Amino acid sequence: MDRKKDSARKIRFTDTSLRDAHQSLWATRMRTDDILAIAETVDGAGYYSLECWGGATFDVCLRFLRENPWERLRRIKEVCRKTPLQMLLRGQNALGYKHYPDDVVDRCVALACENGMDIFRVFDALNDPRNLETAMKAVKKYGAHAQGTISYTVSPVHTVEKYVKLARDLASLGADSICIKDMAGILTPGAARALVSAICAALPEMPVQVHSHATSGMAAAMYLAAVEAGAGCIDTAVSTLSSFSSQPPAESMLAILESEGYATDLDLKAVGKENAYFRELKSKRQPASSRKVEPVDAGVLVHNIPGGMISNLRSQLAQQDALDRLDEVLEELPRVRKDLGYPPLVTPTSQIVGVQSVMNVLSGERYGVVPQETRLYAAGYYGRTPAPIDAKLRKKLVGKEIKPIDCRPADLLKPGLAAAAKELDPSLIKAEEDIISYCMFPEVALGYFKWRAKPEGERDPIPADAEEAQSASAPAEKPAADPAEKAFADLGRALAGLVRASLGGEIPANAAALPAAPVPAPSSAAAETEKAASQDAGGTLPAGTPVTAPLNGTFYRSAGPGKPEVAKEGDTVKAGDPVCIVEAMKLFNTIKAPCSGKILKFTAVHGSAVQKGATLAIIG
Ligand code: CO
Repeated sequence: MDRKKDSARKIRFTDTSLRDAHQSLWATRMRTDDILAIAETVDGAGYYSLECWGGATFDVCLRFLRENPWERLRRIKEVCRKTPLQMLLRGQNALGYKHYPDDVVDRCVALACENGMDIFRVFDALNDPRNLETAMKAVKKYGAHAQGTISYTVSPVHTVEKYVKLARDLASLGADSICIKDMAGILTPGAARALVSAICAALPEMPVQVHSHATSGMAAAMYLAAVEAGAGCIDTAVSTLSSFSSQPPAESMLAILESEGYATDLDLKAVGKENAYFRELKSKRQPASSRKVEPVDAGVLVHNIPGGMISNLRSQLAQQDALDRLDEVLEELPRVRKDLGYPPLVTPTSQIVGVQSVMNVLSGERYGVVPQETRLYAAGYYGRTPAPIDAKLRKKLVGKEIKPIDCRPADLLKPGLAAAAKELDPSLIKAEEDIISYCMFPEVALGYFKWRAKPEGERDPIPADAEEAQSASAPAEKPAADPAEKAFADLGRALAGLVRASLGGEIPANAAALPAAPVPAPSSAAAETEKAASQDAGGTLPAGTPVTAPLNGTFYRSAGPGKPEVAKEGDTVKAGDPVCIVEAMKLFNTIKAPCSGKILKFTAVHGSAVQKGATLAIIG
């Protein structure tokens, strides 16, 4: 990735076929054996690096494919000896969806290095350098290449100057190179030219790589502009795994760059062989749902909302029987994003902004319903927002129960490795890597460990294709011990659910088809009594003011197993005090008392589905 400005400059290619490309087009369903069958060819094709590992591939390996992701890495490394292996690391979120303690992040990086990882692309959804510190330090400590990442977005506060400052921050964290990560495909050629030039001018020795998605149709033109401005490496996929929401095709980019006089190391024959292999594999691995996708999503050019996010919004609205309100939600979304300090729209902020927009539209009151995740986000638990949130709004969003923080979120976390190791049944664990898998995805990893522990003949079969994988994996996701124990166990869970839905392709359009949230059930006898009471509720309800469900969802009395009920019958509450919880769209919403008075009765059954407008409790 040298940066000479002459036209004979060599431009490097990172092949994303083994990670981002199949994540974008095949719901991440490529198997380890699929990769190994072509690995030698890919290794000899002259790529700068092979992106082959990341949070989603890790999750899907354990969850759907019943593979050990660490073993995948080791086996790829056994074959790929020439080309460095590359991975995507979510900063303090490592391979998961929430902040992990420093010792977990450090050990995760150490083990990835030991198993063969060479280049770590480290990013944070909010571009908060404090969320990158531990991961970057660890990558350097274990001798790998630390690629600091700019998560690119467009907003009034995301100026070239701010991005250059971030690039400098990344350099001071030890970055060996910088990646401009355009996850939504919204970086225009003009903006890329300005941004890359400015970074190159500020950090003359720093190699710059660009990553984009072909979603909006601009990526190939943007890559050329970025290269002309000084970028030395681009992310591509072989043509059959390229375009749509994936990267631009390697073959076309090679032709474009060569026509401009740039040198490359790519062996077109080997790339052709790689492509022919994946073209064959496509019929087996591409889910039917992604065969109907439009080649270019021009909507992105207008509203900058990534296509994947719009399909999520559509599913969420379908669950609420409100698909006709999509336009209102799309109009609300930029407003919410502005209110929340212009976060880049990437996991997990895309889910937070998206669901909050849906809530605002459906509840008929802006921030009338605020999920726990929005509260935590506004309180600083995901990191510093790009622009500050208006103080009055922040206070309203955060509410009374959460203490806002200003520190690095992970500073609040106790070391996690020893505790995780203690939780695990030693007979299920084969290596230290398993403990990291468990830290990242506790239930999913446990499900995999138990599957693995069975004699081969007694294991559930691994589903043959993506669609099957989705349905077949459902029972295994339920932890055997006590589903309730895990139901609300961590803050990342709700988001993980949303992300899981996106990993699995489309979310079923009707709520009934969604896997039920684990219910921290009261004793079944009590549940029956309660149910009976609510069924004939019409006749026996006390007079008073109803507390109603603002959305379709699941009704809960407590915020988790072992946690006290939010409120009890007979409690005296003031208007605005929490009464109960409705989980909708995988996020938890505290339902507040509409007036002051005594809670006379809960009319909904704990753990049951409730419709928008249904009476949950009566206050009199
Ligand atoms: Co990407």
